[in-house]
Amino acid sequence: MQSVGVQQSMPDARARQKKILDTAHKIQQNTRKGTEKGFRIIITGKGGVGKTTITALLAHLFAEKGFTTLAVDEDPQMNLPFAVGMPYEESDRIVPLTQNLDYVEEKTGARPGGGWGLMLTLNPDVSDVVERFGVRGPGGVNILVMGTVVQAATGCLCPENTLLESVIRYINLREGEVILMDTPAGVEHFGRSIAKGFHQAVLVTDPSFNAVQVAGHLAHLARELGIPHIHLVINRVRSEDEVKKVRQILDGRSMGLFAGIHVLPYDEGLVRCEPDVRPLLRSGSLFIERLRTLQKTLVRFGK
Ligand SMILES: Nc1ncnc2c1ncn2[C@@H]1O[C@H](COP(=O)(O)OP(=O)(O)OP(=O)(O)O)[C@@H](O)[C@H]1O
Ligand SMILES: [Mg+2]
Repeated sequence: MQSVGVQQSMPDARARQKKILDTAHKIQQNTRKGTEKGFRIIITGKGGVGKTTITALLAHLFAEKGFTTLAVDEDPQMNLPFAVGMPYEESDRIVPLTQNLDYVEEKTGARPGGGWGLMLTLNPDVSDVVERFGVRGPGGVNILVMGTVVQAATGCLCPENTLLESVIRYINLREGEVILMDTPAGVEHFGRSIAKGFHQAVLVTDPSFNAVQVAGHLAHLARELGIPHIHLVINRVRSEDEVKKVRQILDGRSMGLFAGIHVLPYDEGLVRCEPDVRPLLRSGSLFIERLRTLQKTLVRFGK
C-alpha cells in the first residue's frame, strides 16, 4: 500500500491539507445533482461492536442480489477492504483518495483550466467513480477508501473527510446502486456533514452498557441530521437476557426512533475467518440469516 510521508514536515503537511480542501471545495461547487434512484446507508456505533464486519457482509449480500454496491471506508484504519476479502498481497491496488490528489483533480476536472464540462456532463454513477478512484473487490463489491491521516501533529481528519464527502456527494446513484459507508468508532462523524444525504443509518451495538449508550446518542444525532430510517443492530448476543438489558438501557424516546431492531448472535465462525467475512456467507448460521433479513429490510426502506 502506498504510504503517506509520515516524515513530512509540518509546512508540507499543511500545504497538502490545503490542497485536499481546495480539491474538495472545487468538486462541491461543481456538483449538480439529479434525482437519485439508489440509496445510501451509513453504518456506525461504538468501537469494536462489529461495524466493519456488518458493512462487509451487507456489501456482499447486496452484490449477490445484483445491486451495484460501493463499500466506502471512512475509517483511517482501512479495515474494510480486507473484511470484504481483498488479500493483503493486493493491498497496493487500493489507492486511498487522499493519496491520489493529482488524479482526483484531473478526473473530476478540479484542476484549474481542466475539464469542468466533462465532469458535469458525466453526472457520474457508481461505476464511473469506482473506475476513477475506487477498486473492484471480491464478489463484485466495489471499494472506496478515504486514506490515513498524514501525521499525528496535524490531528484533525477534516480535510480528508471533506474530500471523501465531496466525492460521495458527487455520485448520482442510479436504480440498483447502493452506497454502504463504514465509519470510525464514535459519534464524531455525525457532527460533520458527511452523514447528511444518507437515507438509512444502521446503528450497531453490542450488549454492553457503554455501546448501547453510544447507539442511543447516535439515534438522536441521525434524526437531527434528517436521516429518515434508523435501524438498531444488537450484535454479539449470547442470551435473551442481553436483549432485554439493551431494551432497558435505551429509553422510550430512543426506542421510538428505530424503524426496527435486529438481533445478531455471537458467531464463532467470524472469529475463525476474520478478517475475511466471505466464508460466513455460505455458513447458513443464524447470524448470516439475520443479516439477510436486515439486507431485505434495507431494500424495503430504500430512500
Ligand atoms: N457476531 C459476532 N460474533 C463473534 N465475533 C464478532 C461478531 N461480530 C463481530 N465480531 C468480531 O468482533 C471484532 C470487531 O469487529 P469489527 O472490526 O467489525 O468492529 P468495528 O466496530 O468495525 O471496530 P472498530 O470500531 O475498531 O472499527 C472482530 O474480530 C469481529 O470478527
Ligand atoms: Mg471498523
